[in-house]
Amino acid sequence: MGQPLPEDRSGRPVAVIGAGTLGRRIAMMFATRGGTVRIFDPSAEQRQAAVDYAAQALPATVRDLGLGPAGTVEASDDQARAVRDAWLVVEAVPEKLDLKRKVFGQLDAEAPEDAILASNSSSYASRLFIDEVARPERVLNTHFYMPPATNALDVMSCGKTEPSVIDFVKRVFPDYGLHPFEVRRESTGFIFNRIWAAIKRESLEVVYEGVSTPQDVDAMFKLNFGTKAGPFQMMDQVGLDVVLDIEDHYAAENPSLPEGPRKLLREYIGKGRLGVKSGAGFYDYAKDGKPQEAWGS
Ligand SMILES: NC(=O)c1ccc[n+]([C@@H]2O[C@H](COP(=O)([O-])OP(=O)(O)OC[C@H]3O[C@@H](n4cnc5c(N)ncnc54)[C@H](O)[C@@H]3O)[C@@H](O)[C@H]2O)c1
Repeated sequence: MGQPLPEDRSGRPVAVIGAGTLGRRIAMMFATRGGTVRIFDPSAEQRQAAVDYAAQALPATVRDLGLGPAGTVEASDDQARAVRDAWLVVEAVPEKLDLKRKVFGQLDAEAPEDAILASNSSSYASRLFIDEVARPERVLNTHFYMPPATNALDVMSCGKTEPSVIDFVKRVFPDYGLHPFEVRRESTGFIFNRIWAAIKRESLEVVYEGVSTPQDVDAMFKLNFGTKAGPFQMMDQVGLDVVLDIEDHYAAENPSLPEGPRKLLREYIGKGRLGVKSGAGFYDYAKDGKPQEAWGS
C-alpha cells in the first residue's frame, strides 16, 4: 500500500521541531492561512522568542503575501504532544547528523501515519536520517531560505520518498506563500544552497586573506548585483555557527576546500559573535536586528 496523504488538512496543525532562526520563521509561514502551528523546543527561552516573533511578523507577512486570515503559533514543551494530529512536521534542529537521526526516529513513531516528515537541514540529504524510520516513504528534505523575505524552497527525496508525497508538497506549499523547486537527483546543498555556499566561501576567503573587509565586500555585492544585503550581512542573519556547521560538512565531503573561510568563522564564533541572534557578528546589531556598525573596521 502506498503512503497515505493528508489531503484533508482542515483542523489539523503543522508542527515545527526547533524554534531557532529558521524554525520560528517556518512556523510563522504555516500560520499564514489560519489554523494552528505548534512549535517544540527544549529551551523555554527559544519557545517564547518564537511565539513573540510570529505574533510580530504574521500581520505584515499575511498582508504582503496576500494570504490570510492569520492563524496562531503555539509553543509546546513536549514533542509527542506537538506532533499529535499534525498533517506536516518540519524539523529545524541544529545541523548535527546524529541529532537529526534521533529526532526522525522519534517523529516517525509519534506523528500520525499520514503526516509528512520534512527536514530543513541546509546540507544533509534526508537519506542520512532514515535509519530509525519505519516509514521513509513520507520523509523528504524541504529546505527553506529566509522566509518571509526569501521564499524559494528546495524539495528533495530521501531516496525512498513516495513520488505522490513530493507532488503533494509541490502542490500545497504555494498556498502558504512558498515556492518549491524539486532537486532532481541527490545533491549535498540541493540547488541554490550550493551556489550560495560558493559565494559565502569566496567572500570569507577574500576577507581571511586580508584582501578586503566585510563592509566593502557587501557594498560591492549590493552595487553589482542589486541585492538588498551583501554576503556578510546574510551570513549574520543565518548565524555564523550554522554557516560553520554547513561549511564543515562540505569540507568533510571535499577535503580540497580552503581552510581560510572556516578559520575566519571560528575567530568570530570564539568571541561569541554568532550574528544577529547574539547581537553581533560581522556587524553589531541594534535590538531590531539592523546593522549598527561593522566590527573590526
Ligand atoms: N539559519 C539559517 O539561515 C538556515 C537556513 C536554512 C536551513 N537552516 C537549517 O535549519 C536548521 C536549524 O537552523 P537554525 O539556524 O534555526 O538553528 P538555531 O541554532 O537558530 O536553532 C536551533 C534550535 O533547535 C533547538 N533544539 C536543539 N535540540 C533540539 C531538539 N532535540 N528538539 C527540538 N529543538 C531542539 C535549539 O534549542 C534551538 O532553538 C539547521 O539544520 C540549519 O542547517 C538554517
